[in-house]
Amino acid sequence: MARRNDGLPTIEKISEEARFLMRTLLRDDLFGSVVSLSEAEKLLEPSLSLGFADYCAFLKKGGYLHIDRGDNTVAVSDRGRRISEGHEDPTFQQDIAVHFSPRLRRDEGGGDPAAGGAPAREATPARGPDAAPSPGEAMRHPEGAQEMVGGRYMRYEAIGQGGLGTVFRGKNLLLGNLIAIKEVRHVFEYVSYLSREEIVRRLRREVMAQSALEHPNLLAVHDVDFNATYPYLVMDFARGGSLKERMFRAKVEGQGTMPVEITLRYLLQLLYALEYAHGEKVVHGNLKPENVLFDRMGNVKLTDFGMGRITEKSADQPAPVYVGMGTPSYMAPEQLHGTAAVGPAADVYALGILLYEMLTGTLPGRRSPMPSKANKDVPEQLDDLFDKMTHDRIEDRYQSMSQVLDHLYRSYSPDEILDRGSLLLFHVDPLPPAGAEEAPAAAEDDAGAGGEPQKADPAITAEIRVSKEDLDAMADED
Ligand SMILES: Nc1ncnc2c1ncn2[C@@H]1O[C@H](COP(=O)(O)OP(=O)(O)OP(=O)(O)O)[C@@H](O)[C@H]1O
Ligand SMILES: [Mg+2]
Repeated sequence: MARRNDGLPTIEKISEEARFLMRTLLRDDLFGSVVSLSEAEKLLEPSLSLGFADYCAFLKKGGYLHIDRGDNTVAVSDRGRRISEGHEDPTFQQDIAVHFSPRLRRDEGGGDPAAGGAPAREATPARGPDAAPSPGEAMRHPEGAQEMVGGRYMRYEAIGQGGLGTVFRGKNLLLGNLIAIKEVRHVFEYVSYLSREEIVRRLRREVMAQSALEHPNLLAVHDVDFNATYPYLVMDFARGGSLKERMFRAKVEGQGTMPVEITLRYLLQLLYALEYAHGEKVVHGNLKPENVLFDRMGNVKLTDFGMGRITEKSADQPAPVYVGMGTPSYMAPEQLHGTAAVGPAADVYALGILLYEMLTGTLPGRRSPMPSKANKDVPEQLDDLFDKMTHDRIEDRYQSMSQVLDHLYRSYSPDEILDRGSLLLFHVDPLPPAGAEEAPAAAEDDAGAGGEPQKADPAITAEIRVSKEDLDAMADED
């Protein structure tokens, strides 16, 4: 299989993927109690930055996995289980640095990953998120090299990498504001069963469906170029970082879990945002902590609707189990196995998994205790809510975010959840302007399931006349 070869992964990425690999192997709903090595490879290979065999060699050497090539089986050891549940083990990261050394990205601070240097994301932001690197600095660190994009954006260092490509911090040179640029690149290299045209067509469909949504808890997409060698999206820069980072910080600096009141607020914001998106017939399909971002006030800005659908195989292409770029831990069984259409209930499931992870600091497995048993601060009312959100059978689950909200409000009165002053935002306009209800819906067809929303042609972009000197001068001011 073709590998991503333009950007090397960070230690953080590899350690995250190694944990993910072990967590997935522990899911007996996927594999049963005995895990076949070849089945596991088929399932996991597409989601990993380096080869499945490479991870296995490393994990076996460190005693995290037991592998029996004769029987074609693999099992996670107790040590591996602890790591997969998020327990910190300093030697794990160091072992990764040593084993994968030649294939790791050197961090932006110039450190050697083999010396166990901190991952790039942790190493850089001593300055505020608004600061742009000075030109000299950018030259010293190739990852942070600045480059003009689309004639009006400056692209700075990479923030992180996902299944489609890389997200960079950037700046709109005309407005001077900070933005994020997502460059779609790897997907062209590692997805061989789709043509470039098909990938771009799906990307356009999903991006347009997302950008038609308007909600305080959804991240705005401002611009796109689908015709560039590597198509890119320009979006709000989420200054509050991601839920992934927040949960990680809670583990290393705090109590180990997110505070319950804050988790409930995030849950409510996600519920309302998704209830609205589902009302517009847009299903997210790729909910996970990396896609739950935050603005500077600490409110949720959900992003990447439909990005998992870009690499889906169509019905006539045989897919053994899950193939694609999503994250199996958060996927509803029907999405993972392709047994039923992915609808709002799949987002309910993924949100239930996120809820458990926020409340307990770990992902739920078959034998995991209920949230209130895993964390004594969690009220028992949330156990039922979590349980019903994550039933395997769609019909046993809540069918919509509205049902989850109903249950939540029946279990709690809103003033138990929300403190004074936090109900300032309406989620339905009580005094809508005349004719507002007749306004066309954002994505009238089933955009979430593959329709092409009727919107302005993105190929028609405003012509902006700015001389090169103007732009150079603006960049020099940074
Ligand atoms: N607009 C943004 N502002 C700040 N950080 C962002 C923004 N968009 C993405 N990120 C961060 O950049 C990293 C890479 O994002 P990307 O979407 O490429 O991958 P992902 O979320 O891990 O996976 P997926 O491709 O499935 O969405 C993630 O850690 C994400 O939280
Ligand atoms: Mg993402």
